[in-house]
Amino acid sequence: MKRAILTLTALALLATTAQARSWDEIKQSGTIKIATEGAFPPFNVLEGKKLTGFEVTLAEALAKELGLKVEWATQPFDNLLIGLNQDRYDFVIASHGITPQRAKAVDFSNPHYCTGGAIVAKPGGPMTAADLAGKSVAVQVGTTYLENVRKVAGVGDIKTFPKDTDAQAALMSGRVDAWVGDKFTGIDLVKAQKGKVKQGALLFKESIAMAVKKGNSSLLKELNSALDKSLNNGTYAKISGQYFGQDIRCR
Ligand code: ARG
Repeated sequence: MKRAILTLTALALLATTAQARSWDEIKQSGTIKIATEGAFPPFNVLEGKKLTGFEVTLAEALAKELGLKVEWATQPFDNLLIGLNQDRYDFVIASHGITPQRAKAVDFSNPHYCTGGAIVAKPGGPMTAADLAGKSVAVQVGTTYLENVRKVAGVGDIKTFPKDTDAQAALMSGRVDAWVGDKFTGIDLVKAQKGKVKQGALLFKESIAMAVKKGNSSLLKELNSALDKSLNNGTYAKISGQYFGQDIRCR
């Protein structure tokens, strides 16, 4: 918690010092700079030198709609919103859940998908919030999973990892009793591990959105209208179907 508060204070300070690129400036340059993590399959993944994943494909479709080329940047998850407030890129798409705390530091677009944080464990392991009492849990640092696992009454040791995939590995190697992560990531993990782990209860729900620097309303407006178009013209449904076999928009 202390770390989260410090980071947000730092963000708030930085937000007042630099000037984000407005829509007009971006449009004129012809290129939009987008940041993601690249280690959060199937949403944003760096495969060799190529970024892929649902959010990468969606962001590229939005940029195309806006008539812009894309320049990608990758950052550890925990640094993404800090870099945004340092004007290192125009927006972030990295599965950030909209939280009141984050909304103090950045501005969020309309949500680009709805999901939740779910428990995954080996057979016989914890499957519900109540089961987590006294159990060790792996989560990615700086995430809503950490925030919400902390709220579980009696939860045992919480181990944080810079990358979500490392938190999953801790479960697989038996260093923890459970992993809490995205519902859809969990479904993929269960499939990939062929029954070695099972998905349990949804601990919480969240709406996921893109983030722009606080006050960059001209860019936000364009992003929202491009997202709206994609939701209405079949582009979104097609991309979502490609990665999830279903439409994961908020309803
Ligand atoms: N949805 C979670 C959150 O809002 C996790 C996001 C993790 N994203 C990533 N690119 N690793 O904190």
